[in-house]
Amino acid sequence: MTNHTIKLIVNGQEEDLLVPSNMTLLHALRDVLGLTGTKNGCEAGECGACTVLVDGQPTNSCLVLAVELDGREITTVEGLAKDGKLTPLQEKFAELNAVQCGYCTPGMLMAATALLRRNPEPTEEDIQAALVGNLCRCTGYQRIIDAIKEASRNGGAQ
Ligand code: FES
Ligand code: FES
Repeated sequence: MTNHTIKLIVNGQEEDLLVPSNMTLLHALRDVLGLTGTKNGCEAGECGACTVLVDGQPTNSCLVLAVELDGREITTVEGLAKDGKLTPLQEKFAELNAVQCGYCTPGMLMAATALLRRNPEPTEEDIQAALVGNLCRCTGYQRIIDAIKEASRNGGAQ
């Protein structure tokens, strides 16, 4: 397997990585950079647990090869809080119990962050559409939707 040196801007920081041709962004983040907040659910594009932002767009990191992303900007769940301060969205997830086992939460937060950045006042239908690729086995979704709605009234994704 050929190895490639690539540069990614991850959570605002330039990272030089040596990755094999067949390594997905998910494994590059978790196994090379140690950013284990991004979760591996299905590795097949079905669950959304691995969602990160690539140049601001929510992306299943299990479906893209790291080598294809040379020079691109990646935001993971570790990049949301600034100086230890959670975003309003993260705070509302905690406050409204939108988290149970937590496995889907990083992906949900990334999908919802992208939504609130492009649409600061989403309707319930907008939220449902934004989360269509993110599965949660625990919460029944309503608390997640409520947390996103509340965040939109309290500072959004920031
Ligand atoms: S791990 Fe990527 S969509 Fe499930
Ligand atoms: S909180 Fe468990 S899968 Fe969503």
